Amino acid sequence: MTRKLFVTTALPYANAAFHIGHMMEYIQADIWVRFQRMQRDGEGDQRRPREVHFVGADDTHGTPIMIAAEKEGITPQEFVAKIAAGRAQYLDGFHIAFDNWYSTDSPENVELSQGIYRKLRDAGLIQTKIVPRFYDPVKGMFLADRNIKGECPVCHAKDQYGDNCEVCGAAYQPTELINPFSVFTNATPVLKDSEQYFFKLSDPRCYQFLKDWLNTPGRLQPEMVNKVSEWLGESGEKLADWDISRDAPYFGIPIPDAPGKFFYVWLDAPVGYLASLKNYCAKQGIDFDALLNDPATEQIHFIGKDIVSFHLLFWPAMLKFAGHPVIDKLKVNVHGHLTVNNEKMSKSRGTGISPLRYLNLGMNPEWLRYYIAFKLNSKVEDLDFTGDDFVARVNSDLIGKFVNIASRCAGFIAKKFDGKLADTLSPGAQQWIQRALVTSEGVERQANIAANFEAREYGKALREIMEIADITNQYVDENKPWILAKDEAKTAELHDVCTAALILFRQLTILLSPVLPGVAANVTKFLGDSQLVWADTDVASGVVSQAMLGRTIGAYTHLMTRVDAKMIEELFDAPGQQAAAAAQPAPAEKPAKAARQAAPAAVAAAPAVPMPEGVEELAPQISIDDFVKIDLRVAQIVNCEHVDGSDKLLRLTLDVGEGRLRNVFSGIKSMYQPEELVGKLTVMVANLAPRKMKFGVSEGMVLAGSAKDEKANPGIYILNPWPGAAPGMRIR
Ligand code: 2FM
Ligand code: ZN
Repeated sequence: MTRKLFVTTALPYANAAFHIGHMMEYIQADIWVRFQRMQRDGEGDQRRPREVHFVGADDTHGTPIMIAAEKEGITPQEFVAKIAAGRAQYLDGFHIAFDNWYSTDSPENVELSQGIYRKLRDAGLIQTKIVPRFYDPVKGMFLADRNIKGECPVCHAKDQYGDNCEVCGAAYQPTELINPFSVFTNATPVLKDSEQYFFKLSDPRCYQFLKDWLNTPGRLQPEMVNKVSEWLGESGEKLADWDISRDAPYFGIPIPDAPGKFFYVWLDAPVGYLASLKNYCAKQGIDFDALLNDPATEQIHFIGKDIVSFHLLFWPAMLKFAGHPVIDKLKVNVHGHLTVNNEKMSKSRGTGISPLRYLNLGMNPEWLRYYIAFKLNSKVEDLDFTGDDFVARVNSDLIGKFVNIASRCAGFIAKKFDGKLADTLSPGAQQWIQRALVTSEGVERQANIAANFEAREYGKALREIMEIADITNQYVDENKPWILAKDEAKTAELHDVCTAALILFRQLTILLSPVLPGVAANVTKFLGDSQLVWADTDVASGVVSQAMLGRTIGAYTHLMTRVDAKMIEELFDAPGQQAAAAAQPAPAEKPAKAARQAAPAAVAAAPAVPMPEGVEELAPQISIDDFVKIDLRVAQIVNCEHVDGSDKLLRLTLDVGEGRLRNVFSGIKSMYQPEELVGKLTVMVANLAPRKMKFGVSEGMVLAGSAKDEKANPGIYILNPWPGAAPGMRIR
């Protein structure tokens, strides 16, 4: 039977660009998908390529997107479309090959979500209850948790959202906030009864199903089985009903027969997986229902550990009781988070490596794919990105081991043999091939590698691939083609060695191609293959060597460059560097072009004006175009504290009106006590690249004035806008 795989990654909220954590998940899933696409199922004539459908979508509904759109004065649909238009540059940039990218705000999703709901209702699993909800009496609307702010009941930080405190991390109910206010009108919210729709997870049928589903061997990672078992309790007593409704106005899907009520975003988000598949099937002429009803179909979700409850409780229970045919073949693969230099990255802060910045620096996306793959396993463990480790791993494995084989041997084939590989191999060369591909215990390494890719043990797979590369390099080192090439009498030996090395190089490329699809495509061309398929890794059949013997190959072009450690510095550059770079005079070798870009309404640069004693000289003149690159914003200091171990810095928590808070370090400790700054407004550079500092990541820079000679005149004074200014206002 040919396996049919329906694979997804978590659907990202359509209110922000991708961060590096998204890319990690997509790379993990994409490697798995590419590996599966290289596999064949069945025997003899029945052998068929495995069928894989890999889909994604934007998760569009909910209050934050509605508010963000309102702030920009556009409809949520327009807002979501803008975000969606930015996705391709990331996906293409990192070779993520989704078959379809869709949206939860789609007719398919409305139909499927409402259909699932109706089936749950018919099964007696929907119940309404009257619950008190915060209501804005001025705006006349119910308030979602994130529409309410107030003082944290735990640490008393001001201006915290209704669900959790971004300063101390406490989670609470909006009703626990001290002095709550509506973010729309600042009015004090009142409690008002509202009828809500609940999915009855407390029903004994749900417990019974989840218990069996969870404990099906091989379905979930052991740590997830434990976690969900805890949530289920001894007999399901811990399972609470799930509120799936929100009151209008809400950007979402209407609940059938319930005017003014919408599905909570997390009800229709996972249904978006099915909606994207359905949309894709229609485009491809595939029968969606037949695919789902096919016993060969498996459904696999890749997700992060932060959204496990939605995927391991609500989603399987919804699917089960809505009669979803793939429920017995539903698997959820959970991964940990990506940390940078062992520091947690936060979704809401958007810290860490910017994927676009990575690409714009000219860094090779396949370096990152390899590095992430090398560090991934099948456990729910965090994965740390460290600059030095990244440089060392990529340069040692990909350049020093893999590419090195081709770059040392291919030139001789071109120069001395008109590009033609040897027709036969010496017994010695055959033995080396055998030694590289089969362990001393007689185990075919390639079978192990395939099993590890299948099990998402990519790190293990890549280590074993690198063992093959090590043995191949050892073979080249021992036979020294560059010495053989100097001796006419050794021409046949040179041909033999380079042919064997390139046969192994091709094998390595096949094995690495799920991780390095771009390199694999170039090698495919260079070696004159039409396609690299996994079947060619079958050592016993002899196909490994036979595919290459006597073949004429193309000219070798360099496959990959080394990582330059300087790029890593630029990936995490310091605030001020960009602004300073913008103010630099144009590079001498391109004066005309630079001048056109910098100052369209060309005004001759003013000569430097001498300044009075003690006053700093003016920086080189800039154009208005340069100035607008710096995004200065009014920021509210919602919290301020000392930084342990630093005698210069204060840690500021700033609200720049963007629906999240920023962490900024500022060297103003000598001048201010933290408590006198809390609640004040100031001005910050809001579009400065985040900077990794000893004490954490600084997400911007607060502006302050200081004298030219700071030793003689040491004061440093932060800016304070006049009354009326509000967080988020741009300074122009
Ligand atoms: O956490 C998130 O980013 C959600 N948008 C994930 C949704 S996954 C699926 F359910 F759509
Ligand atoms: Zn708090």
